[in-house]
Amino acid sequence: MSINFNKYHWFAFYASQQIMPAEIRARSMWNTDIAVWREENGSIHAWKNRCPHRGMRLSYGFIRGSQLVCLYHGWNYEGATAQCSYIPAQPNLKGPKTACVRDFACFEKHGLVWISTVAEAEKEPDFSDFGEAEQTIHFCRSIFVNESPGLVGEILKTSIFIPYGNDLADGAKLKIETSQAEHHQTGANYQAIWQSGRDKKKKTELTCQTEVRNNAILVNHYKDDQGNEGSLIFALLPIDDKKTGVHVLFSGDFSSQSLTSAKRHYAKWAKRMRWSIENRNLQTDSFNPWI
Ligand code: FES
Repeated sequence: MSINFNKYHWFAFYASQQIMPAEIRARSMWNTDIAVWREENGSIHAWKNRCPHRGMRLSYGFIRGSQLVCLYHGWNYEGATAQCSYIPAQPNLKGPKTACVRDFACFEKHGLVWISTVAEAEKEPDFSDFGEAEQTIHFCRSIFVNESPGLVGEILKTSIFIPYGNDLADGAKLKIETSQAEHHQTGANYQAIWQSGRDKKKKTELTCQTEVRNNAILVNHYKDDQGNEGSLIFALLPIDDKKTGVHVLFSGDFSSQSLTSAKRHYAKWAKRMRWSIENRNLQTDSFNPWI
């Protein structure tokens, strides 16, 4: 199955940890400017980033309790209803019914805020059938690639990476020797065999199986011959036709110290992944920026 983005899916919009209580963040999805914000009690909301009064971006405003306050004329909007509840210039007037912000369905799971811009969205993404216990999935980082969502998804289906814990991961200059991909209806199978630049005799084989789930989620189950096994997960966010957000998650049981190192490992890889996709014409056999 190729990556088939449509508006009936849920998309990972923001990392939950980036939106603290009483904070507002904004970014685009499908060219729509969306503000996501938390009430002081932690409840999350996703609204069109436009005040119904005079069109000010709501993300410039601030949170007071359960209300978002527009910075321009101070109209208050209630989190649960998105309805205007108070107008400072007319304190005795109840907010007009038409003064209501367009809100979007949203929920939090796996450290991410998921949004759908349509009321009839497909069922919420569920990672339980990915063979991963929820508590072993870790959010790593979000990264933004200047390429179309379809292209980024297709390239990530056969992405090359060194799993955390591999003894070649730190500092070695690595060179991919072979990489073959077999695309099938719901993803891809491929192997990468690499050798260390320091030890020409030492080779490591990585076997990957990528599955496309809920259309905008790629799960890459990997196994290498050093005994490392797990999943690298990409939740894709279509910003517009030329820009794609990639939320990177990975699975595994880690101590708190090794979890920090694993996050650093995959975060560094994600930066190279972005460079690699945006500069794919520069790649040669002897220079592979993926690793
Ligand atoms: S534009 Fe928001 S209150 Fe006027």
